Amino acid sequence: MTEVTDKSVLLIISGGIAAYKSLELIRLIKKGGGSVRCILTKGGEQFVTPLSVSALCEEQAYTDLWSLKDETEMGHIRLSREADVIIIAPASANLIAQMAQGRADDLASTALLASDKPALIAPAMNVRMWENPATKANIEKLKEYGHTIIGPTEGDMACGEYGMGRMLEPEEIFVAITGALEQPLPKKKLTGKTALVTSGPTYEAIDPVRFIGNRSSGKQGHAIATALQQAGADVTLVTGPVNIPDPAGVKTIHIQTAAEMLKACEDTLPADIAVCAAAVSDWAPKQHEQKIKKRGDSSAPNIELSENPDILKTISNHKNRPEIVIGFAAETENLEENGQAKLAKKGCDIILANLVAQDGAEVFGTDQNQVSCITASAVDNWAPMTKSAIAKKLTDTIINALNQTETLKSAAE
Ligand code: CTP
Repeated sequence: MTEVTDKSVLLIISGGIAAYKSLELIRLIKKGGGSVRCILTKGGEQFVTPLSVSALCEEQAYTDLWSLKDETEMGHIRLSREADVIIIAPASANLIAQMAQGRADDLASTALLASDKPALIAPAMNVRMWENPATKANIEKLKEYGHTIIGPTEGDMACGEYGMGRMLEPEEIFVAITGALEQPLPKKKLTGKTALVTSGPTYEAIDPVRFIGNRSSGKQGHAIATALQQAGADVTLVTGPVNIPDPAGVKTIHIQTAAEMLKACEDTLPADIAVCAAAVSDWAPKQHEQKIKKRGDSSAPNIELSENPDILKTISNHKNRPEIVIGFAAETENLEENGQAKLAKKGCDIILANLVAQDGAEVFGTDQNQVSCITASAVDNWAPMTKSAIAKKLTDTIINALNQTETLKSAAE
């Protein structure tokens, strides 16, 4: 069983060289046990044929708004209404503009206008088209309408230029689809809010080949960035070196050291929400320019360490302090007591405290976690759940906390 088993996906392929990747996406969904119905725009048909699409979907490809046969067998309204999730990949600048304007001049735009659910949109276009203010405004409008934009990413383009505009890889789009199916896309309660999330470890160089690091996988921090983005927030993720992909639709900044993480975070402020989930190295070695050599007398070198900046504490006490600041506490004993002490010491609003070594239980790198949500007035022990479920529950907690502050503010006015 996978998240797509027995689910029906409506895939809209519009014009772009990336359309060939959508054939692989169909294969992934079918392999996962889902069904795919596909609408090809006139532009899409220039890049992949209805025949190859229908062979992979095992169903005809829909191309024509005015086809009497298609309309009697499967009306354009049913096409979007019967789908569990709608994905547009590639989404061309033209289809994005059609959607932003609410146009219905071909089958794809009509099915989207007649739809009763938000869509996942995977743009693909030339970098200048992506950066054009008209496209930017259209994208903002689609976000306001509740759609989720996944990608694009940066890279070499088919047109020979380099920049933002490459469609996400089929595997990444598939992950976004499973995420959307796991739980219906949350209502866009964080639209208009900005969020800063830190994730992963930091690496502090000892010399050009060695470093001090830790075993953080980044899974929890990345899941939080995804959940906040899915709730409508404009998210910046600052991450240390990890082996997982950048979350779709999230501006991701890659850093190595705690000092670089702090700079990227301060550059991102002001923000409405900050979640520090990174496992920041507490110390950095005095760096050696050259590789430290063995001395030949069995003695080991002394590595001089200095304390790293505390990013959570700095953000909590910053002149541009976000309205809500959340930290984690990785503890090996006295969870509540240490969590509460950390809340006060760092000056944040919520600490999610977890035991990182209990009865041999492994947290680093796994998909499961168990946390206690600690505020100045309460401790709430959350049941064990997946890191992605924790991320969603934390997002709900953030939404409630922001609503409370807004209610208090308007009562005071
Ligand atoms: N943190 C941070 N910058 C640091 C150290 C920690 O932003 N230099 C943040 C982490 O992202 C986490 C929280 O502070 O949200 C607590 O991290 P943790 O490692 O549990 O605590 P420390 O502050 O390092 O304290 P100690 O190791 O003494 O428990």
